[in-house]
Amino acid sequence: MKTLTTAHLTGIAGLTAEDVHTLLDTAQEFKEVLNRPIRKVPTLRDLTVANLFFENSTRTRLSFELAEKRLSADVVNFSASGSSVSKGETLVDTVNNILAMKVDMVVMRHPHPGASKFLAERIPNTPVINAGDGTHEHPTQALLDAFSLRERLGELAGKKIAIVGDIRHSRVAISNILCLQLLGAHVRVCGPRTLVPRHIRSLGVEVSHDLDETLRWADAVNMLRIQLERQGGEGRVPYFPSLREYARAFGLDKERLDRLDRVPWILHPGPINRGVEVTSEVADGPHAIILDQVENGVAVRMAALYLLAPVRP
Ligand code: CP
Repeated sequence: MKTLTTAHLTGIAGLTAEDVHTLLDTAQEFKEVLNRPIRKVPTLRDLTVANLFFENSTRTRLSFELAEKRLSADVVNFSASGSSVSKGETLVDTVNNILAMKVDMVVMRHPHPGASKFLAERIPNTPVINAGDGTHEHPTQALLDAFSLRERLGELAGKKIAIVGDIRHSRVAISNILCLQLLGAHVRVCGPRTLVPRHIRSLGVEVSHDLDETLRWADAVNMLRIQLERQGGEGRVPYFPSLREYARAFGLDKERLDRLDRVPWILHPGPINRGVEVTSEVADGPHAIILDQVENGVAVRMAALYLLAPVRP
């Protein structure tokens, strides 16, 4: 049986190329399980997984819960709202209380960058999976994106993948860059100058501010959500003049795609701001693989849970 070189999945940083291939190949096997009439396997029977969500989520939370249930794990869910966090309880106290109830693995989303690593260092014997930590990393999103790209493009070595939009505030961008580079892809980021931080070049990516040229270059484009909630509060749009102007320069619509000889595959991690990053016509059109990403997320998370699960004596 293949294993990972890490006891926790706090980010793509720290994984080897071999780890990423192992995760994707294992996810392929679980995708086959999910397409059988009986979609459940006993792999994690008698293990209990806690899903700790200190920040909102739809896709990631449902996907992890479904993955855990398909693997026959027992599942407990925790949301910060309605918990004793609002009474001042610390993250470590919260988690230690949950672990005292004999939890075997923890999946955590948290608004603070580095929260998963902080937790993993304090509960080293309980595997921690990062479900998104602030602007830091979202490793299972990058893995499901790579899995979905591999389905369409084959092996990703040498393929050209563009990440478009709000790079500055995106954990998905960082995890995608690291994951795609481990798989040998060429990665370009594209967006307004205000949303592409200068230091991103130090990761070895190309930088462009021209979406039309990037669309001609790319085999696939991952259209990131504009994260208004991380841009200084509601009602303020300090990084570009208006959403309409952003959409005109960096949004995908049918007219833009119609000008291309070859249309790249289109990804979006969700939730979509329809009419901003992509129009509905594009999001629901033949080149978008956005719902494939969601479907593949369950298989990828099953693989991560399976490969990190503690071995029972
Ligand atoms: N892609 C993603 O992380 O979506 P959620 O915030 O709904 O989990």
